[in-house]
Amino acid sequence: MPKLDHNILISTALPYANGPLHIGHMVGYVQSDIWTRYQRLVGNNCVSVCASDAHGTPIMLRAAEEGIDPEQLVSRIRDSHIRDFEDFYVDFDEFYTTHSPENRELVEGIFNKLDAAGHIDRRIITQAYDAEKEMFLPDRYVTGTCPNCKSPDQYGDNCDKCSATYDPLDLIDPVSKVSGSPPVAKESEHLFFKLSGFNDELRQWLTTDNIDEAVLNKLLEWVDAGLKDWDISRDAPYFGFKIPGTDDKYFYVWVDAPVGYMASFKHYCDKNGVSFDDYWNIDSKHAVYHFIGKDIINFHCLFWPAVLSGAGYRMPTQVFAHGHLTLNKAKMSKSKGELIGARTYLNHLDPEALRYYFFSKLRPGIDDLDFNGDDFVARVNADLVNKFVNIASRCAGFISRNFEGELASTLHDEDLYQKFVDAGSDIDLYYRDRQYSSAARSIMELADLANQYVDHHKPWKLVKEEGQEAKVQAVCTQGLNMFRALLVYLTPVLPALSAQAGEFLNAPVTSWDDVETPLLKHKVNTFKPLKSRVDGKHVEAMMAEERAAAAATAEPKQVAKDADDSTISIDDFKKVDLRVVRITDAQVVEGADKLVQLTLDLGGSTRNVFAGIKRSYDPDQLIGRLTVMVANLAPRKMRFGISEGMVLAASNDSGVYILSPDSGAEPGQRVT
Ligand code: 2FM
Ligand code: ZN
Repeated sequence: MPKLDHNILISTALPYANGPLHIGHMVGYVQSDIWTRYQRLVGNNCVSVCASDAHGTPIMLRAAEEGIDPEQLVSRIRDSHIRDFEDFYVDFDEFYTTHSPENRELVEGIFNKLDAAGHIDRRIITQAYDAEKEMFLPDRYVTGTCPNCKSPDQYGDNCDKCSATYDPLDLIDPVSKVSGSPPVAKESEHLFFKLSGFNDELRQWLTTDNIDEAVLNKLLEWVDAGLKDWDISRDAPYFGFKIPGTDDKYFYVWVDAPVGYMASFKHYCDKNGVSFDDYWNIDSKHAVYHFIGKDIINFHCLFWPAVLSGAGYRMPTQVFAHGHLTLNKAKMSKSKGELIGARTYLNHLDPEALRYYFFSKLRPGIDDLDFNGDDFVARVNADLVNKFVNIASRCAGFISRNFEGELASTLHDEDLYQKFVDAGSDIDLYYRDRQYSSAARSIMELADLANQYVDHHKPWKLVKEEGQEAKVQAVCTQGLNMFRALLVYLTPVLPALSAQAGEFLNAPVTSWDDVETPLLKHKVNTFKPLKSRVDGKHVEAMMAEERAAAAATAEPKQVAKDADDSTISIDDFKKVDLRVVRITDAQVVEGADKLVQLTLDLGGSTRNVFAGIKRSYDPDQLIGRLTVMVANLAPRKMRFGISEGMVLAASNDSGVYILSPDSGAEPGQRVT
């Protein structure tokens, strides 16, 4: 079995700390996490790093809008990203931030080396300036009419109607998105990294050993066309690191973001006694892999290797770019509710189902992947539940009921088992080459063989026949060992299931080679169901939650009034599902003046509701009392979480008064 026998540093693109993650982001994180877990399973030493991408104009402006420091915003969003990663079993050894002392030191050091070696140029340029807000405007912060095709509402860099590229000040009637005023042209000195000096070096680095072929050709086209120098500075106000030797110039976020990979790793090294230099020195024998989305290839395959080389560091071993996730073949759109937030997904569905779904579709290269609800349900249920887990469910009961959990001492069909072992070499290579869809296919072909074997021997029939006990034990031992082989092969994809099944088998998966030693004369534990079917209703509920959140944040529509709109029909009233509920928990909501977070018992199910009642109630006093809620209100996404309904209350200037039913009412009862 091939082993790379490497020390490997793996990074995945750093998420901007200005908003929540969606499942499109998870494609890259799941892809790299599977790869890291696979590398570990085959015995390589891996460190996997990530961080919040903390700097830049959008984060600065968003923090200002919320009236908080950018550091506070970064910290809040970073925490939420960490929770999402944990819940999707994306396991980084270090999830740091680019706004760190290590990153500042590394960026300054790299800049000083580049400057000393003559790779930095200083030039005066003219840019769009917002005189009202006293700031230079990034291209995306200027909108206007396309100078080419005259389409209105185009961004300052290119037109999404005719694809023309231009300067923001070339727009007709340009407007600053920050203040709404027309920008003016203003000069300022900027620092440039002389990328053009690295043409030959990049051409040499750009080979199929470093980049997938599809991406390589595009990059070579760019290099052939001649590389332009790269503006690495931004004027104040800017949230970032100040450039040494300047008063008011900051490093452009895209300078310190990839250096953030190094900084995150440095932080890890300092805590764990690992040598940073062994990985980053020019003559390093270790491997450095970057997983990225296809939209940021130029930063990682042109600027970044050139910067590293100019500053005397090693260049990356390989850069793995992946495509984007579409939703029913369309680009995801937050405003239309046609997007699935990572947290929204987790509220309804099993994280490993999505990990497997991506695994079954991912290949190297930058083709987009599609999420389709029906396809997702069908794929996960067919492969994970009906094929894979089913093997264990069909065999486990007989072993525990009839043989006290003891497996037979020999395999019933050694040749068949050997097929499972032999298939490991191809599956290993598929993983290594990120041919995940091929790995999934091979594993499921083996699962088919295992199920055919069980079908053929029918242990449920044998068990009723006289003198067939030994055969039942042998067949089920064979079945469970084939299941275990597949478990090993799926461990990088399904870490939680692997742990759970490892407990049942009384043999946690520790190595790819576990397949070579079947479990014989070995006691297994009692079997508990490992995965339940994905229900399409949960996918529907997830989509409904996103649509409701989009509707709740959309501009309120002007509703035409007519004379009769003050009365409603009895049928309208019946649509409102009013229920008696018991408040089982009540908590203050950090950062909200008016809200109390209520947990409501509907007589079996519970709801989370944010109620604006803090001015009149101490949360502790609410616990245990009955009230009435609207139970069929569309869930509403609030800053603090999802509110799943509304508690009825009256209010006047002196207070809020929650409604209570008379004694005798029960939680869950309908109010009519
Ligand atoms: O495109 C993005 O979301 C960036 N925040 C990725 C940065 S990756 C690395 F360079 F830091
Ligand atoms: Zn145009």
